[in-house]
Amino acid sequence: MDYKLLDKESGVEYAKSKKLFQSDEKVTCQEIGDGNINYVFRLKGEKKSYIFKQADELLRSSQRPLSQNRMDIEAFMLNYYNKSTPNFSPKLYFYDRDLKLIAMEDLFDYKNLRHEYMNGNFYQGTTKRLGEFCVKSLLPTTIFYMDLNKRRKLQSMICNEDMCNITEDLVLTEPFIDYKKRNVITEGLEKYVEENIYNDRNLQLRAAVLKEKFVNDKQALIHGDLHTGSIFVKEGEVKIIDPEFATFAPIGYDLGNVLANLFFALLYNEEVLKSVDGANEIKQQIEIFIKSLYRSFTEYFKKKKIIDPSFNNSNFINKTIQDYMTDMYSFCGMELLRRTIGDSKVLELTTIEDLNKRQMVDKILINFSKNLITSPESFMSTNVIKAYEGWHKAINLI
Ligand SMILES: Nc1ncnc2c1ncn2[C@@H]1O[C@H](COP(=O)(O)OP(=O)(O)OP(=O)(O)O)[C@@H](O)[C@H]1O
Ligand SMILES: [Mg+2]
Repeated sequence: MDYKLLDKESGVEYAKSKKLFQSDEKVTCQEIGDGNINYVFRLKGEKKSYIFKQADELLRSSQRPLSQNRMDIEAFMLNYYNKSTPNFSPKLYFYDRDLKLIAMEDLFDYKNLRHEYMNGNFYQGTTKRLGEFCVKSLLPTTIFYMDLNKRRKLQSMICNEDMCNITEDLVLTEPFIDYKKRNVITEGLEKYVEENIYNDRNLQLRAAVLKEKFVNDKQALIHGDLHTGSIFVKEGEVKIIDPEFATFAPIGYDLGNVLANLFFALLYNEEVLKSVDGANEIKQQIEIFIKSLYRSFTEYFKKKKIIDPSFNNSNFINKTIQDYMTDMYSFCGMELLRRTIGDSKVLELTTIEDLNKRQMVDKILINFSKNLITSPESFMSTNVIKAYEGWHKAINLI
């Protein structure tokens, strides 16, 4: 079938042709996407509903062209998650390669974690489950658990060039060197950013090291965009969506994305909602996330046998876990900074209307992220929440 972007009518017709509904059933098709990149349709019949996610030739928001290959990768990843971590992902029903269309489970009774944190709604065990998801989805594609030749083949299959280029530019380059002039800096902070970011040679060096690491250190098949808007929750459950940025890259990239977005939730609860209880709750969830990672990594390595005799070495395993965690802090800093001064923001920041408050929040994030990027090892012994609180206090005092 030739490629064509669905609409309300063709969506229903297509769903019926795939026998998802009875031919005489009353079915509606509604575009519910809220993202920049793809189209998401909800197909609702009399008893059942499905989600179709389709990659058009042009971006949903800017109408700029982007390789549709991203949906092949997302379908591959959903299928992989369905096998490695079935409770953590929507079920993939089928993938139509011609239409670049995924048909998947409708998570109608789940809520977007970013919105839930912003509304002060918390679910017990969310970050413990997130830690578990990270470990169980990441370790199977490492050198510890995958035949090295199969791994090489898989790596050559997962060539997510366009999406990797976005990450390499928007996250790993432009916040430090604004060579495309796309950074969006809060009014009044232009000089501050120039002095503290663009003119900081040591920071640029660390950014180069981390970009090199992202490109060269193909530790595992990562999600690549694991922010709280890609996490859906309900009591006792977590589901991960949107793995279209997946690539072989450092494990710490996924871990750091989750951690950074928990800090956005924390700042929002503190500075906008002024909720002491909310802030305390998120601080606890951050601690639980970090503990859950350590526990899940250790348990996984203990339970699952490592075949390769070189890698089946407890000292090597312990060192590797430490490296994953150190990288988490570095990439957490990269995510915090790019959302603060880069082109692609988060709701927790863009909804702050008061300019003074926004400047203050940006300054906290700039200093805290620099700290994470330049000395990630220090957080292996210093509590990361204490460090955040230190910057929070320092900026408030100035
Ligand atoms: N399986 C699902 N069940 C229910 N709703 C979903 C599902 N998948 C996506 N959605 C809805 O569609 C929205 C956009 O989905 P998604 O983030 O996958 O799209 P995207 O175009 O890749 O977005 P982005 O620009 O953030 O990358 C989600 O926030 C959610 O509201
Ligand atoms: Mg997406």
